[in-house]
Amino acid sequence: MKRNDYLYLDHAATTPMRESALEAFKNAEEFAYANSAGGHELSRRAKNLLEESRDFIASYFGAAPSEITFTSGGTEADNWVIKAPFINSKNSQNLVTSKIEHEAVLASAEWLETQGQEVNYASCNKDGQVDINEFLDKCNKDTAIASLMYANNETGVVQQIEKIAKEVKIKNSDILFHSDVVQAVSSEKLDFHKLGIDSAAVSGHKIGGPKGIGIMFLSSKYKLPNYFHGGKQELEKRAGTVNVSGVAGLAAALKEHQDNFDNEKKRILQEREIFENELKNALEIKIVGEKIDRLCHISNIQFKSVNSETLMVALDLKGLGVSRGSACASGAQKPSHVLVAMNVPDIDVNSHLRFSFGWNTKEGDGKYASEIVINTVKEIL
Ligand SMILES: Cc1ncc(COP(=O)(O)O)c(C=O)c1O
Repeated sequence: MKRNDYLYLDHAATTPMRESALEAFKNAEEFAYANSAGGHELSRRAKNLLEESRDFIASYFGAAPSEITFTSGGTEADNWVIKAPFINSKNSQNLVTSKIEHEAVLASAEWLETQGQEVNYASCNKDGQVDINEFLDKCNKDTAIASLMYANNETGVVQQIEKIAKEVKIKNSDILFHSDVVQAVSSEKLDFHKLGIDSAAVSGHKIGGPKGIGIMFLSSKYKLPNYFHGGKQELEKRAGTVNVSGVAGLAAALKEHQDNFDNEKKRILQEREIFENELKNALEIKIVGEKIDRLCHISNIQFKSVNSETLMVALDLKGLGVSRGSACASGAQKPSHVLVAMNVPDIDVNSHLRFSFGWNTKEGDGKYASEIVINTVKEIL
């Protein structure tokens, strides 16, 4: 069936703003545009909106409002937690993380290494599950931070965060356990304290909120050095005029997400299943993490003997937008570090594409996408 619309299946890179988020953002710009740190009526209006939004967001994640600091996105929150404790640190503490983290964590860790800091990376199995024993073995009495993502942005594969966080604490209760939950928020209900994590990075634009807004959750048990220096905003923890409209948009997106959670998840899972089944019946493919726990919105597929760049460009020309993996790495033509860590053979590493579904995925999208992909792959082969 030919359709006239461009089908967007790259929601893991960014998802469109939800209507309520757009409205909240626009209202805030129109009626609460003043600086929330000012001392007059309009500033109080902005400050009230900011704090009401913070209260809702905190309760959404089972946290206290004082544990939520607004950032410019997931990247800033990850950088803050990973780097700040080590800056100018003269002691011999180390960081433990995994080889499959998002670039926001990995590049921060690599930067720390250039500063002489010790970083230990745990590996994963062929399905992309991090080796728990290896991760725990690397945590020792000198570990300051252990950082493991909740679910991978290229494969959707979920890690056993609650179990790992608990075992890390048994090894050394002083370790701050950080989790990048950026991809997970759109498909899982997360309560940070119940999960046992001490800090988390969240991004607004992955859940139907605006770009340029994110959250750094930090348990009240911990204090971190500031990463930005300047004014005394955000309880003196993060300098810079607060993006109140972004925060209001993010709160509205989370509320809409909460209200529609079950229906959206069911629809996304159904469309992904139709898509994957159609492909399996027609082509030689491998679905990453097919048999294990993975987020409902991501489908990472390996197409036998097809170059992913060629296929991605051909799909784009036919009106289907997908990606080769992380948006931060695509275009770089470098094999995905996640697939390399999973020991995907050299011959297959450049034949994977990521299809990611989202809150506005409609019934029929899975079938339509599969028709485009099947026809295109057959033309290429
Ligand atoms: C797992 C993960 N962490 C962090 C980020 C970065 O978030 P932001 O774009 O808000 O900086 C992304 C976005 O690609 C992501 O998928």
